[in-house]
Amino acid sequence: MGSPSDPLRHPFFRTAREGAVPLIAPKELRELLEGPTPPLLLDVRSETERRWVHLANDRHLPIHTLPRETGQLPRDRPIVAYDHLGPQARRAAELLRSRGFDRAAALEGGIDEYARVVDPTLPRYREGEGERGPLLHQLPRPDTGCLAYLVTDPVAREAIIIDPGPDAAPYLETLRAGTWHLVAIVESHTHADHRAGHAALHAATDAPIYVSRRSPAQYPHRTLSDGETIDFGSEEIKVLETPGHTRDHLTLRVRDFAFTGDTLLIGSCGRTDLGDGSPDMLWESLTEKLLRLPDETEVYPAHFGPRHALPARYLSTLGFERATNEALNQGSREAFIRYMTEGWPPKPADFERIVQANLEG
Ligand SMILES: [Fe+2]
Repeated sequence: MGSPSDPLRHPFFRTAREGAVPLIAPKELRELLEGPTPPLLLDVRSETERRWVHLANDRHLPIHTLPRETGQLPRDRPIVAYDHLGPQARRAAELLRSRGFDRAAALEGGIDEYARVVDPTLPRYREGEGERGPLLHQLPRPDTGCLAYLVTDPVAREAIIIDPGPDAAPYLETLRAGTWHLVAIVESHTHADHRAGHAALHAATDAPIYVSRRSPAQYPHRTLSDGETIDFGSEEIKVLETPGHTRDHLTLRVRDFAFTGDTLLIGSCGRTDLGDGSPDMLWESLTEKLLRLPDETEVYPAHFGPRHALPARYLSTLGFERATNEALNQGSREAFIRYMTEGWPPKPADFERIVQANLEG
């Protein structure tokens, strides 16, 4: 899949978006800050992340507020956006450049890399530190562009996994290394682009598999419907039915995290023509359900697309997607339906076979 000039062509992404965001390496940033025209440092992280550490003399605009707050930023100074590890700052800089801030850039590797390379006095975040609630482990598969998620309660050591890939070994290793007890395997929907991994993981852990009540799954499973929850430790997953990409699509929420599967991707929405979904259903799910969640909701999709670097944590916020997502900004229901109907890459040749195999086991 893909070639050197085309790092990841996935059938869920229409095009690689144009225009690269300049990245500023930590040492380069230090030189700029000590130079005659220091850039404005813009922290785009959440309030919670900022509380832990931030750079001196910066400005703070959480990324979910940025689309409506760009008016208060200076146009006569370079701006360097930063976050924890890099990816949110890149998207912030992309937005700023699209709005005429031609000197906007992003700090490569985020404050974490800056602390490592430039300023060891800055504390570096370590997993499990402090009162951070559930811990999220994003588990990417660079070969397919899929993202699975392990969400854990660090006190009870219980975990759930969402959309695991077919090779159980790395997940089992993560579970073993963290001494996590897996209590649920959840499929956000019936996948058409890759083999699902619930069967292998269930065989190895005996954790129950959960799917939508609308899923035609033929293997042993438990069903979920709107408003239901699954407990893990003292946390819970809340179920939101969001049909559209497929009829059996679920969005899964843990506190402020929304695991949006292929209903809402970063910058786009998952196509609706590889199964039993439809653009109308997707429009209803977005406007009546998903987009009613607050702006600060963190969006964790099931796929990452071209130009989105890994392994830094890949996420967005609902506020940012509301303002910048191409699919969500078509202007009308009719235009959205046209967008979801036309212009997609060819369907994967074997998608019907993959769907059938995923339903069987
Ligand atoms: Fe999908």
